[in-house]
Amino acid sequence: MAFSVASSSSSAISATNYSRSSELKALQIGSLRLLGRPAAVSLSQRRCSVKPVNAESKRNDSIVPLAAAIAESEVAEKIEVEDYEQLAKVLENSSPLEIMDKALEKFGNDIAIAFSGAEDVALIEYAKLTGRPFRVFSLDTGRLNPETYKFFDTVEDHYGIHIEYMFPDAVEVQALVRSKGLFSFYEDGHQECCRVRKVRPLRRALKGLRAWITGQREDQSPGTRSEIPVVQVDPVFEGMDSGVGSLIKWNPMANVEGQNAWNFLRAMNVPVNSLHSQGYVSIGCEPCTRPVLPGQHEREGRWWWEDARAKECGLHKGNLKHDDLAQLNGNGNGATYSNGAAGVADIFNSQTLVNLSSSGITNLLRLENRKEPWIVVLYAPWCQFCQGMENSYLELADKLAGSGVKVGKFRADGDQKEFAKQELQLGSFPTILLFPKHSSRPIKYPSEKRDVDSLMTFVSALR
Ligand code: ADX
Ligand code: SF4
Repeated sequence: MAFSVASSSSSAISATNYSRSSELKALQIGSLRLLGRPAAVSLSQRRCSVKPVNAESKRNDSIVPLAAAIAESEVAEKIEVEDYEQLAKVLENSSPLEIMDKALEKFGNDIAIAFSGAEDVALIEYAKLTGRPFRVFSLDTGRLNPETYKFFDTVEDHYGIHIEYMFPDAVEVQALVRSKGLFSFYEDGHQECCRVRKVRPLRRALKGLRAWITGQREDQSPGTRSEIPVVQVDPVFEGMDSGVGSLIKWNPMANVEGQNAWNFLRAMNVPVNSLHSQGYVSIGCEPCTRPVLPGQHEREGRWWWEDARAKECGLHKGNLKHDDLAQLNGNGNGATYSNGAAGVADIFNSQTLVNLSSSGITNLLRLENRKEPWIVVLYAPWCQFCQGMENSYLELADKLAGSGVKVGKFRADGDQKEFAKQELQLGSFPTILLFPKHSSRPIKYPSEKRDVDSLMTFVSALR
């Protein structure tokens, strides 16, 4: 079934914010219609005119009455429904420049390039060549090579842009490093560290966007990237509108071979990371990246101590097939459950949240009159959608602490799944239940909006 989502171009940067490019050579490239288009946003102007990638979502229930006042025809004009599977087919043989142009045209200020500091600088070059304004963000894990930091600086100078850096949460890094040391990934796999240093910051960045652009190529990783489309509804992350399907992922270089990407960089005289001249091809964090020898695949230089099949750090986990995920969840390469079983680390860990056993949730279910209402998430720690709502659920638990509403979690995979299906209305993960004070039957949260405000509204309305 094809996915469709609504997108809006309402936040495109106004033309008055552009500086007109002196580089008219860009307008002559390829067969695109670039004439008369404003150039890339200049450094300081762009800073003033765009919302940071991690800014609060524009959606806010309090603005609903205002939105309702907009004339119907105006709304109809702005909302456009796109079938992205179909669009991917249409653009399959298009050049990266054409795909980039389409992406920027469609999403304006609500899209940004994810730049890793490696050869995906080609994306920035393509974006510049479109003549459209564009944004760039990067996840600074704190563990990048000095050469990569230097390269970021060079790229900012070369293109006259500011990269919107995203940093990991200091408390989370602190907890990880204090408990497990600086190199825990060599012992129990890279997933846990990547989750703290990369995936969560990425999730935060994407919540301020409607679409993102990556430099993924099919030939980068035969095991996991051989089928990536040039554009797709993001299978893992959510955008500012929340919910599955609220974020579009563009991969303009999906069909470009590595050699051709390099030919392009050379032809356009684009600056590159100096690590490439030392034998590095695919570049990530310093402790997890090494040069490769002639004839080795580029991916062999990443997380070389782990199984080659599933070398995704979580940024592009949607590429993983079921078997790879099972392998990740089941062997010693993953982190360890807090309950001691092998696999991925447990989630929703907080002192403001009660970890319910099966007898605990059964008791809750049986009580006719509870002392206080409960909200409980039925989850599986390996489920990407559960991981996706982790931050908002923890925030909800913090907000509700001391309010008289209890917040709990119940791990409902494995042996508990049948029971949860029979007794607790489990359909898919995550399932969220509210056990109101004066009703025996739990109420299932009906929406896929799992942001803290939506959850809070649900609790407040029914507690
Ligand atoms: S990874 O998942 O294995 O780390 P890889 O290095 O192949 O990813 O890069 C693929 C694409 O993911 C890059 O072209 C870029 O779009 C995005 N990406 C990877 N690392 C980062 C980063 N640190 N910051 C922003 N984007 C990144
Ligand atoms: Fe941590 Fe290595 Fe992942 Fe970087 S690549 S976030 S250092 S595990």
